[in-house]
Amino acid sequence: MTWTHRELEARVAAHGRGHRAGSPSGLELKRFRCELDAALHASQVHRVLVLGMTPELRGLVLDSSAVLVSMDVNPEAIRLYVDWVPQNSAETILEENWLSLDRARHGYFGAILGDGILPNLLTKTEQRKLISRMAACLATGGAVIMRHPILPDSEDLRAMYWKDLCRQLRSGNIDPDGYGLTMRLWGFAQELGVLEDGVLDNKAVFERLATLLEQAEISEQEHDYVQRFRYLGHNLFFDLHALEGMTRDAGLTMADHKVSEGFWNSYYRMLTLKCVQ
Ligand SMILES: C[S@@+](CC[C@H](N)C(=O)[O-])C[C@H]1O[C@@H](n2cnc3c(N)ncnc32)[C@H](O)[C@@H]1O
Repeated sequence: MTWTHRELEARVAAHGRGHRAGSPSGLELKRFRCELDAALHASQVHRVLVLGMTPELRGLVLDSSAVLVSMDVNPEAIRLYVDWVPQNSAETILEENWLSLDRARHGYFGAILGDGILPNLLTKTEQRKLISRMAACLATGGAVIMRHPILPDSEDLRAMYWKDLCRQLRSGNIDPDGYGLTMRLWGFAQELGVLEDGVLDNKAVFERLATLLEQAEISEQEHDYVQRFRYLGHNLFFDLHALEGMTRDAGLTMADHKVSEGFWNSYYRMLTLKCVQ
């Protein structure tokens, strides 16, 4: 299991409950809310699926008074986050793989929400399968609403080389979250050949970081900011064009919302995949 207790805890604020990394920002949550309201209104199905246990997304759904189903394959994640939303709430938690999603068993949803879900699936076939399973479970008018990292082109990637990110952090141009997340995803992507096949080996990233710390190229604090986004598994990324194709093949239309808050918004997009017929 790649999402162990240590990875999950790394994202939690030192003072207890509350995310300090890896969760949507205030502006992103506003966009989630806006798209969620539109999908519930258009579909008239007040039932929402959240993929993963992201507390901010589950809270948003409960605020909207829709019925919530949350799905995560990992009992550690369920245990850690279960009580971060009100306990008397209309939530059903399913300990299941997202790829088991099935209309006959799970029914129709007015919206499906997720934060960084697709890159957890390590083949194009699996990502296509999840998109088409989500499409099959959407009521007409419904939508998949997700925050999703897209593979940057080579020019953008060059600008996110670890040395440049350190320079930007030190001169105050990016904040610790923008730096930490971007370092993990793209700081070493050129060196690791991510553009060749879209695969990021996060273990190699964290090994590089340990070496940089040892060589005093980065400080303890600069090392710590990235540890908040600790993850040692692999990820698979596609560029926006490829993702749009996969979405279209599943019969959904894609809208890409520009949220201009964090440094990460250039590649971490807010996407709505709509079921229009
Ligand atoms: C939604 S993702 C990313 C969360 C957040 N954006 C971050 O970076 O911290 C993390 C969650 O997905 C779950 N997960 C990963 N692959 C899964 C799968 N195939 N089926 C169900 N849950 C999965 C993990 O157990 C973990 O709790």
